Amino acid sequence: MLRSAMGTVINIDGRLLPPEEATISVLDRGFLYGDSIYEVIRTYGGRPFELDAHLDRLEGSAGLIALTLPWDKKRFSEEIQETIRASANIEAGRETYVRLVVTRGSGEIGLDPALAVKPRTVIISRPLVMPSKECYESGVEVAVVSVQRVAPEAINPAAKTGNYLNNLLALKEARDRGAYEAVMLDGKGRLTEGSTSNVFIVKDGKLVTPPTDAGILEGVTRRVILLAAQDVDIAASQLHLEPDDLREADEAFITSSIREILPVTRVDGEPVGEGRVGSVTKKLQAAFRERTGVPVDGEGF
Ligand code: PDD
Repeated sequence: MLRSAMGTVINIDGRLLPPEEATISVLDRGFLYGDSIYEVIRTYGGRPFELDAHLDRLEGSAGLIALTLPWDKKRFSEEIQETIRASANIEAGRETYVRLVVTRGSGEIGLDPALAVKPRTVIISRPLVMPSKECYESGVEVAVVSVQRVAPEAINPAAKTGNYLNNLLALKEARDRGAYEAVMLDGKGRLTEGSTSNVFIVKDGKLVTPPTDAGILEGVTRRVILLAAQDVDIAASQLHLEPDDLREADEAFITSSIREILPVTRVDGEPVGEGRVGSVTKKLQAAFRERTGVPVDGEGF
């Protein structure tokens, strides 16, 4: 058992360490260039949710940036579960947040990926912190920002890389405007996604989200929601959307592994629909939770 085996535990290349001993070289390419990929996963009832889907996406991200993963899916899965166990959050009545990072490693300083000697794997396991209850009850505001989502021909948004400057600058613009999350457009002015979330709207009872070819990260939560919509007979489609579709929607929400379905009740200072959390959103929140095996208990946990 780890000395500080409570709350936060970090696994580096298969070694479990307390946070103060978990270090990576400053020559690591993840630090120097954002030359890394990652996943964020959470547990329900102590078990990582949709782990397979996250590991499939990790493999996809690795392929898109030509990074050879050090472990197969089985090993990643075992290491993640061991790290979660060591952090012992469920014993303390909490769920766990897991961040899995694979960097290309280090070598001679230089851009050429061939300089990297061996990839490094980091798994951070710590207590899950969700947005406040207030955010779920009142909904949040998003801003349609001027920072565009990077084009698939530049850095494909389908790869979840450690290079998040594009999203970071979009979020900064949104926060400077008093909004909780940014919504980024592509070069043609179409909606893509949030800085760390996917975007959905509801119009006339139907659910719509931009398709994967809109240049987005295919969210694991997004995929589960499209299935949850079928569970409760809500028609769902993947269509290109414009900012006005969002502004004129009846309801809207953003999604991510940590936030699940977070209602959006204002866009650029104006209310969405009636400016309240809508009935379709509520129905989907419950249907999503059914799929996690941990039904809603009013605390978002
Ligand atoms: N980010 N789009 C982007 C750009 C994201 O960074 C994320 C998630 C999502 C939603 O994906 P998922 O449903 O698989 O979590 C969409 C993670 C949560 C993060 O950076 O914290």
